[in-house]
Amino acid sequence: MLRFALALLLVTGVSAPSWAQDITYRKHIRPLWTQKCAACHGVDAPYLGEFMENQKKFEAALKGPRMDSYADLIAFIGWPDTGAIMRRLDDGKNTAERKPGNMYQYLGATDTERQKNLALFKEWVGKDAWKLNRWEARGKVPAITKADLDRIQVKY
Ligand code: HEC
Repeated sequence: MLRFALALLLVTGVSAPSWAQDITYRKHIRPLWTQKCAACHGVDAPYLGEFMENQKKFEAALKGPRMDSYADLIAFIGWPDTGAIMRRLDDGKNTAERKPGNMYQYLGATDTERQKNLALFKEWVGKDAWKLNRWEARGKVPAITKADLDRIQVKY
């Protein structure tokens, strides 16, 4: 059996890592986003530019910037709001003060659920691509690098 599996591997050229299911926007992230984020980042939320012009007003109405499509969401990962998803969803393991990002709480009702959904987001963003850096350096935190950006996967 094992020998058969190995032979199959050779024949099909499938390598071990691709046995793992690919995390995609359509299959995994979109449903999770709809459940956990849509209430405040959906169709009736302002686009980032408008949000920033009137941040106080929108925050008071519990509206964050709109990210209800694939294209809008990845703008909070790659550019222009580089690393925003990572900074806000991180559980504190990658932040300077070991404090979770302020959207981490919305990932689930229990820590188990939050960790599971964080892992899903991380896997979707890409292996070793979970970087909290911004486009430009801020304080002691350096700017994102091209090598970091190259690791971003965010499969549709
Ligand atoms: C109860 C409402 C609410 C929910 C639910 C919510 N958010 Fe937010 N979010 C906000 C508000 C309000 C802001 C703007 C204030 C701030 O920056 O903290 C924000 C800001 C953000 C930002 C920062 C955007 C920027 O301008 O840099 C990101 C990224 C984000 N949210 C992602 C998410 C994700 C992903 C989820 C789901 C897991 C989520 N949020 C769930 C209300 C919410």
